[in-house]
Amino acid sequence: MTRNATTAYQPLAGQVALVTGANSGIGEGIARCMARAGAAVAINYVVNPDAASKVVKDITSAGGKAIAAQADVSNETQVRKMFDTIRDSFGTLDILVNNAGWQKDAPLAEMTLEQWNAVINVNLTGQFLCAREAVREFFRRGMRPVSKALGKIICISSVHECIPWGGHCNYAASKGGILMLMKSMAQELAGRKIRVNSIGPGAIQTPINRSAWETPDAMKSLLTLIPDGRIGQAEDIGRTAVFLASDDSDYITGQTIFVDGGMTLYPGFATGG
Ligand code: BGC
Repeated sequence: MTRNATTAYQPLAGQVALVTGANSGIGEGIARCMARAGAAVAINYVVNPDAASKVVKDITSAGGKAIAAQADVSNETQVRKMFDTIRDSFGTLDILVNNAGWQKDAPLAEMTLEQWNAVINVNLTGQFLCAREAVREFFRRGMRPVSKALGKIICISSVHECIPWGGHCNYAASKGGILMLMKSMAQELAGRKIRVNSIGPGAIQTPINRSAWETPDAMKSLLTLIPDGRIGQAEDIGRTAVFLASDDSDYITGQTIFVDGGMTLYPGFATGG
């Protein structure tokens, strides 16, 4: 770890991170920030290998270490194989960022079981499957001198782990589930020196919520929900993820940090109520 005027601060030097869903959006931003912070990064993806290769190429040509690792996080066999690939390339894993997720929105009366299952399987079960493999790997390998922790798990949740979201019941339920998955894992694993925390992003400008920002009218309406007055960027989440993965947050476990420009402050109450 270095912190001086001439060298970049690399709090994750010598560590290995897996970021799920890292070929676009928030996951890509987190992967790039972790690589800059010194971690070797596995870029998980399920479709669009070209986008994953581009992230890998950008990181390696800047002097970092990265590999692409394909797996559907909701598929147990594929998740296991992905961890084997990471062990083959980098020896072990120190940091898991459970980011992969999607939306399949519909009003409740029209929501199909496929839409429900698709979102719960990837957003929630996928986080369980990857966390379980990560913890098994942390136990297998034991402490190493790169961190005070045996391992770190960061769950990418949402403001919708606490803000109800009509028209998105499957998504909000998956994020509410992540809250208790994260806290229960943190409670169970704290004595083993494994830290588990969440980041709750607000509206971050990525493909998942394009319809909420792509026209001036949509952006204007979105900004009424964000006291800070700007839409978030993937780097806002990436910087927080680096903090939660590093020993700078060594005494933090079982918490959600909302990175939302104030979206969870009930902005309607600034002038109402
Ligand atoms: C959703 C976005 C939404 C944001 C704020 C996120 O979790 O994925 O679509 O814009 O929450 O509502």
